[in-house]
Amino acid sequence: MSARKGNCWDFARHVLPESDILVLGELHLESCSKCDYECMKDMVCPKNDDIGKIYEKWMESDTVVLFSPVYDGRPPSLYYIFEERTPSLWKRKCSGFASFGNRNAAIVIVGNENVERAEKILSRSLENLGLKIITSIRIHPNDYPVGGGIKGGLIANREIVTKLDAFKNSILQSR
Ligand SMILES: Cc1cc2nc3c(=O)[nH]c(=O)nc-3n(C[C@H](O)[C@H](O)[C@H](O)COP(=O)(O)O)c2cc1C
Repeated sequence: MSARKGNCWDFARHVLPESDILVLGELHLESCSKCDYECMKDMVCPKNDDIGKIYEKWMESDTVVLFSPVYDGRPPSLYYIFEERTPSLWKRKCSGFASFGNRNAAIVIVGNENVERAEKILSRSLENLGLKIITSIRIHPNDYPVGGGIKGGLIANREIVTKLDAFKNSILQSR
């Protein structure tokens, strides 16, 4: 969910096959605007952007794994755009909210300050969408002397790799 390919990208590639990863910062995503509540009327969302790419990956997954940085004490605005657009997905394209939400979720959150707050925002949002959080880890770059810190390179740190391996195992075990 990062706007750049830094720590979150490295962590995601360690846990998942690259073909399963979507980088929100590389998609063209628009916030809701200038609509007539089409999604609430089971009509097509007037936006013509990449939200459908998230939908396609989402629906083929049994577990949604979020790798998120903390931006100014919160998840990035890219997440909020996604969240705001979800009614256009579950109302229009599938058999409804239950089928969209019925899956597990796992979270990796990266930041030094307000990480717990950002993690809570993400967990609550995913739970509101109907997902079950099976595991969640926080990575504070300042705790790790090896690697480039907040600018990237934290994957060079063995402790982080061990943490990510345990995270991956919890996801596999919950299947
Ligand atoms: C716009 C912006 C705001 C940020 N705000 C915070 C913050 O409030 N708290 C924090 O701990 N880190 C903050 N950071 C640092 C990021 O959490 C950190 O760089 C993280 O590694 C970003 O993930 P990435 O490497 O995948 O981009 C901020 C970074 C950016 C670019």
